[in-house]
Amino acid sequence: MFEIAPSILSADFARLADDIQAVENGGATILHVDVMDGHFVPNITIGLPVVRSLRKATKMTLDCHLMISEPGVYAEQFVKAGADMVSVHVEADAHLHRTLSAIRAAGAKAGIAINPGTPLVALEEALPFADFVLIMSVNPGFGGQAFIETSTDKVRRLRRMIDDRRLSTRIEIDGGIDASNIHEVVEAGAEILVAGSAIYGKPSPTEAVRELIDKATVWV
Ligand code: DX5
Ligand code: ZN
Repeated sequence: MFEIAPSILSADFARLADDIQAVENGGATILHVDVMDGHFVPNITIGLPVVRSLRKATKMTLDCHLMISEPGVYAEQFVKAGADMVSVHVEADAHLHRTLSAIRAAGAKAGIAINPGTPLVALEEALPFADFVLIMSVNPGFGGQAFIETSTDKVRRLRRMIDDRRLSTRIEIDGGIDASNIHEVVEAGAEILVAGSAIYGKPSPTEAVRELIDKATVWV
């Protein structure tokens, strides 16, 4: 079953509580929180204090996407701050197995995030230790970029890799997802669908979530 994960990166940070309620009203179940350090990616966003406040403001699943260098130093702190899911980039972590294990031990779902230019083989060994894989379908750093078309096939190949190994790893896709491409990525095997500008760039984020759910639904 798929879930819509609105990215608050495109929300109004001064009206965050209202913007969160709006997407929950539309049927979104996961809140995607983009953490950037100005080092791993050329942008700086939000960190632990905001996650702590979000935790008090909503019961939605909090999904922290760490686009930071040395994520192993901070990952557990995000779980303690209230994250239910934490993903770290394979490109940023020399000790991926250790970090994933620490996230799980702290009580959250552990995810591996992978950039568009990084081949899937880079995460193969760590796959059994992850609850989900986040496939980046844009280069991380900014909202509102165009979906990289080859990402759908990457989802399909990852789905096969997971199924061949009889794992239950979920696939999340992040970047440039909108009503025009959400169906194809769900068909390819993605289950957690992040969308920022396609939701918060619309006059009604509530309606935008409903439209994405409608378009993503695969009728059998
Ligand atoms: C990009 C972030 C994404 C971003 C998605 O680095 O990881 O989560 O907010 O925004 P859209 O949906 O606008 O591409
Ligand atoms: Zn993200």
